Amino acid sequence: MIVILKPDMGEKNPEYRQILDFLAHKPNIKTRVHQEIGAQQTLTEIYLIGDTAALDKTEIESLPGVERVVRISEEYRILGRHRDDRRATGFEYNGVKFNQDNLNVFAGLCAVDNPEHVEMMLKALRDNGQVCTRMGAYKPRTNPYSFQGHGKSCLPWVFELAGRYGIKVIAMEITHDSHLVEIQEALRQTGNPTGVMLQIGTRNTQNFELLKIVGRQRELPVLLKRGFGITLEESLNAAEYLASEGNRNIVFGLRGMKTNMGDPHRNFVDFAHVPVVKRLTRMPVCIDPSHSVGSRDRAPDGMLDISHVTAQGVIAGANMVLVDFHPVPTKALVDGPQALLLEELPYFLEDIAIAREAYEK
Ligand code: E4P
Ligand code: PEP
Repeated sequence: MIVILKPDMGEKNPEYRQILDFLAHKPNIKTRVHQEIGAQQTLTEIYLIGDTAALDKTEIESLPGVERVVRISEEYRILGRHRDDRRATGFEYNGVKFNQDNLNVFAGLCAVDNPEHVEMMLKALRDNGQVCTRMGAYKPRTNPYSFQGHGKSCLPWVFELAGRYGIKVIAMEITHDSHLVEIQEALRQTGNPTGVMLQIGTRNTQNFELLKIVGRQRELPVLLKRGFGITLEESLNAAEYLASEGNRNIVFGLRGMKTNMGDPHRNFVDFAHVPVVKRLTRMPVCIDPSHSVGSRDRAPDGMLDISHVTAQGVIAGANMVLVDFHPVPTKALVDGPQALLLEELPYFLEDIAIAREAYEK
């Protein structure tokens, strides 16, 4: 059960203490308070854990300072959509809104290689009105001898360049908690020229200790990708790990599944699950057509498979598109075969706009 307080009802209000006092006297009930401190107002929710079936919802709703009470099911307690749950979806970070009703495109490099390519990418994004990108500094690789990313050393110049080209949010994967510290330090040292959305990739969806550490910080939002060999329920529970530690600024990413059934794509595209995730939870949903398809193969109509599945994901209601581009894919250090060309960016964005308009209609 969640007790949602009226805006700005915090520790200083006598009603707040009275509500907590009232709940403290209920047998077998524990409380956990969660606050979101925004520029305009502070929102407080009190989570009740234990024998909540015995509680009278109307009685709690009649207490001064209480806005409403939501009974929640056991599943996805924090992120789930519950009956009577009219709470807004999503969050705002560094001036960019992420919710279940809008769409942000994160086109960029799978892996940062050199300043020249990063700058070419950023320039193309700026010229096409984009304020978000993806840039991999820490790469999780199958083969220990493959390029593992430049790591900490590239962060200062990547952040400075991104700021110069008006980028507000960079999706950047981390695979270890030390990477979180390195990113936070580099952002501070460079004076926060841009923002970072921490990406937890498919190989780490169930790295519970990493999830707990990332969930404990609330400075940076998180893009959590679905695990490629686990159920949707298991992946949504992984997202709940982040939220249960305090960070609810989470986008959930679909990036295809491994099936071992001779799929023509790198992974079996799972974008039909966009509306399912939106129905089960309040998280915005991202699609990653690049890691799903894995190549620049084209259908007989001349359109890239990556563009086809992107349109399918967008028309299914996706809220974010994470996609690989590269100025010279043959020179990319990771995943070159699936990278789109910079000159394809305006057409790719136009396709997305058409699919989004169709979805909205
Ligand atoms: C990049 O995005 C990943 O690190 C890449 O997809 C990993 O795959 P690989 O190491 O099997 O090439
Ligand atoms: C990536 O987006 O760079 C990546 C490694 O993706 P995934 O975790 O989906 O394989």
